[in-house]
Amino acid sequence: MSNQMTITFPDDWHIHLRDNDALKTTVPHAAQSFKRVIVMPNTTPPVKNRQDAEAYYARIQKHIPEGSDFQPLMTLYLTPDTTPEIIEDAKASGIVHAVKLYPAGVTTNSTAGVSSLKNLYPVFEKMAEVGLPLLIHGEASDPEIDIFDRELTFIEQELKPLHAAIPTLRIVLEHITTKDAVEFVLGANDNVGATLTPQHLLFNRNSLLSGGIKPHLYCLPILKREIHRQALIKAATSGNPKFFIGTDSAPHAQSAKESSCGCAGCYSALTAISHYAEAFERMNALDKLEAFLGHYGADFYGLPRNTETITLVREDWTPPDSYPYLENEHLIPLGAKQVLKWKVK
Ligand code: NCD
Ligand code: ZN
Repeated sequence: MSNQMTITFPDDWHIHLRDNDALKTTVPHAAQSFKRVIVMPNTTPPVKNRQDAEAYYARIQKHIPEGSDFQPLMTLYLTPDTTPEIIEDAKASGIVHAVKLYPAGVTTNSTAGVSSLKNLYPVFEKMAEVGLPLLIHGEASDPEIDIFDRELTFIEQELKPLHAAIPTLRIVLEHITTKDAVEFVLGANDNVGATLTPQHLLFNRNSLLSGGIKPHLYCLPILKREIHRQALIKAATSGNPKFFIGTDSAPHAQSAKESSCGCAGCYSALTAISHYAEAFERMNALDKLEAFLGHYGADFYGLPRNTETITLVREDWTPPDSYPYLENEHLIPLGAKQVLKWKVK
């Protein structure tokens, strides 16, 4: 087995950069690992229209390191007030590449999200027409539903009817966590893809909950049983272009994570590539890594593949315990205090 791999420079099709001062940290980190990133719109307040997206884009631009050709790809946050006109306008901006659906209340900064998809069908029709993909946080919003069942319930109750009603709408089921999601994506037409995070490929709910609660592994959708993790890693390493990288790197200050009510989100912007490599190697599928990290996402979004490369070397390294963040805060990376097996040169 080779100890070095040169592969297409990766993109990240799902990242949270937050806003304002947080960008000082998150943008350089993202630019170090990725050429292009799909920037999640769940800022406070959310990115709801073209004007918001352009202003946020400009704030991000200020923190791109000199000489870097890093490119943020903006998204809109779907609310009950989103209209087909807002979609058309966003598409015309040239900087908005997708629209994100958060069922109301399911995750960090999702209170402005949507409770009934049916009312938004005219908006989805418009997205299909102009070619803007719908990115879905696929969890049912009813708080009575068991947290481990929320993805499956959403797929059955909302996603299947939506895909059947508007099969031309391009959909990315984000950060999938169950074999049910894998099966849905495999059974759907080619307009449906899915992103996979490093944590869902490497860890299961025992990693989170057995032997003490690990707040830095708490993210949404929550880590599931081992059978689900196995289905995910199988999908990721299958070479099927429907499955591609989306780290869901989501910065939360250490104090907000290590709390009596800890925030959901894993910060992986600088470690995700190593984690994916390790996950693929365990499946003897390093030959499938390049396309997962650097080809399939671009193809799905109809963007050119990157021509630059990165080199991964098999070398043990330990990420920093933390990175400075905001004023007197810290970010704990996914993989802190662990030995990772692959390093980006
Ligand atoms: C994300 C965040 O912190 O913004 N958290 C998470 O657990 N994944 C939101 C999200 O993508 O669900
Ligand atoms: Zn996310």
